[in-house]
Amino acid sequence: MKTLSVSHLLGIKYLQLEDLHLIFETATHFKEVINRPIKKVPSLRDITIANLFFENSTRTKLSFELAEKRLSADVINFSAAQSSVKKGETLIDTVNNILAMKVDMVVIRHPNPGAAHFLSKHVKSCIINAGDGTHEHPTQALLDAYSLLEKWGDLKGKRIAIVGDILHSRVALSNIYALQMLGAEVRLCAPKSLLPKHIKELGVSTSYDLEQTLRWCDAANMLRVQNERMDLGYFPSTREYSQSFGLNGNLLKKLRKEIVILHPGPINRGVEITSEVADSSQAIILDQVENGVAIRMAIIYLLAAKLNIPIQ
Ligand code: CP
Repeated sequence: MKTLSVSHLLGIKYLQLEDLHLIFETATHFKEVINRPIKKVPSLRDITIANLFFENSTRTKLSFELAEKRLSADVINFSAAQSSVKKGETLIDTVNNILAMKVDMVVIRHPNPGAAHFLSKHVKSCIINAGDGTHEHPTQALLDAYSLLEKWGDLKGKRIAIVGDILHSRVALSNIYALQMLGAEVRLCAPKSLLPKHIKELGVSTSYDLEQTLRWCDAANMLRVQNERMDLGYFPSTREYSQSFGLNGNLLKKLRKEIVILHPGPINRGVEITSEVADSSQAIILDQVENGVAIRMAIIYLLAAKLNIPIQ
């Protein structure tokens, strides 16, 4: 059996191209499984997985839980809001107490960049990063790339724009790494205040002009404005942001070509994207969500294969 080059999924940065191909190949198998009348396989029935969410989530949390259940793993869910973290317990103590209950794998979402990496150095368990602050969101980038591959077959030479709040986005960094590894060209489009200063060092181009960027690209990933991470005004008003960087139906029609629209969710309808665009045939937003389950099944399955636990 082919295996991943890593024992944890901490970020796309730590993966090789072969890992991406293996994950996509495995996800394609699981996508076929979850579209059968019986959507479950017994593969991981001897494995217990803890989902630790220290930050809000809808898609990622439910998608991981469903992926684990489709693989027949035992699942426990932890949400920081109802836990002893509120009483002052450290992250390492929290996780070690959970691991003492014989847990094999930990999926963690945390507001601090590097939390998953830190945990992988301090606890004896397989760690999956489900989003660490403004750093990386590897499973999101994998499902985004997989959804584009499903559409086009190959990303070599494709031009992908990532638009919006790059500064606070973990999706942007993971997407840059994944898309470039797969041979795509990446352009970031945002107000100057939402573009990190040294981002060009990653080999991307940048623009402050949405229409020009959309004319250049084959697909646009429209990021959410992350108000919860903004401690000061990065643009004059939401109205002005959406006038300059929001994607609406008129702008899409003006292009006279069909570009693919992605959004990681949750959507601020009317801010970064209008309902007309989000619900259009060019948007693959719900395909991304569907593919997320198959991608997460693939990741969990491939990482479980690196543990000394029987897989069915
Ligand atoms: N895309 C994404 O991470 O969504 P959630 O925050 O709902 O998990």
